[in-house]
Amino acid sequence: MPEAELHHALTIALIVLAVPTFLVLLWTTAPYGRHARGGWGPTIPSRAGWILMECPAVLFFLAIYFAGAHRFDLTPLVFCAIWQLHYVHRTFVFPFRLRIGGKRMPISIPLLGMFFNAMNAYVNARWISELGSYPASWLADPRFIVGALVFLTGLAINLHADTVLIHLRKPGESGYKIPTGGMYRFVTSPNYLGEIVEWIGWAILTWSLPGLAFAIYTTANLAPRALSNHRWYQEKFPDYPRERRALIPFVK
Ligand SMILES: NC(=O)c1ccc[n+]([C@@H]2O[C@H](COP(=O)([O-])OP(=O)(O)OC[C@H]3O[C@@H](n4cnc5c(N)ncnc54)[C@H](OP(=O)(O)O)[C@@H]3O)[C@@H](O)[C@H]2O)c1
Repeated sequence: MPEAELHHALTIALIVLAVPTFLVLLWTTAPYGRHARGGWGPTIPSRAGWILMECPAVLFFLAIYFAGAHRFDLTPLVFCAIWQLHYVHRTFVFPFRLRIGGKRMPISIPLLGMFFNAMNAYVNARWISELGSYPASWLADPRFIVGALVFLTGLAINLHADTVLIHLRKPGESGYKIPTGGMYRFVTSPNYLGEIVEWIGWAILTWSLPGLAFAIYTTANLAPRALSNHRWYQEKFPDYPRERRALIPFVK
């Protein structure tokens, strides 16, 4: 099969996979963090799990990107930098910011995450540096400018929301409190909202099917968890703000 066809098939597979992912996660919440529970097989330290899970999105992405014919063209390089801006932080900085003590996660979580990240990294990196075509003038295109603004807005929301959560705990603490301020005034999981907005921005700025596939899959993965988190807060805290929604301000 020619590579372009294989790449297209994998991109479509990512979109199709979003459907069972969404349905399964509505039915059962991934067992890490506040939803951790036994019965999911061997575990590893959560910090190591995060690094393992996310590293294909940095390293495999770079390997695929730099194998492409357009690797030194301006626009693909800017795309690569935007992608890595998110993933270098998520893989090598974020896990060390977490105040999670010795918490562990089932190894199946990072293994599944690695599979998804590797597939997604291939589909997006191969597109931007080989199969897609982006002249330098793309950087002045309204789709790039709007998409980049959407991406940066999502990144800011995601980083701020995660920082609020991290600082709810003093060093050594492991319990849960009600987060406040910023987008927490409106939703329970602004970190997930920011993440989804980021990858919608990526889909717009690359104006590509691989970008759209990633945005759809991210939404399918995070929307059910936002609903679970919302229910969890409502059950755990009787004084949880009633006007706060799960993921989409004023809607749901
Ligand atoms: N692209 C994707 O598909 C994808 C998938 C998953 C995650 N992510 C991103 O990865 C990041 C982390 O995700 P996550 O699911 O781990 O987020 P999370 O459940 O909101 O937790 C983030 C961190 O804050 C702590 N925390 C959460 N709520 C707290 C509270 N009420 N009081 C005190 N500490 C609290 C958690 O501790 P505990 O671990 O002890 O609960 C964890 O260390 C987010 O930015 C998310 O967008 C992306």
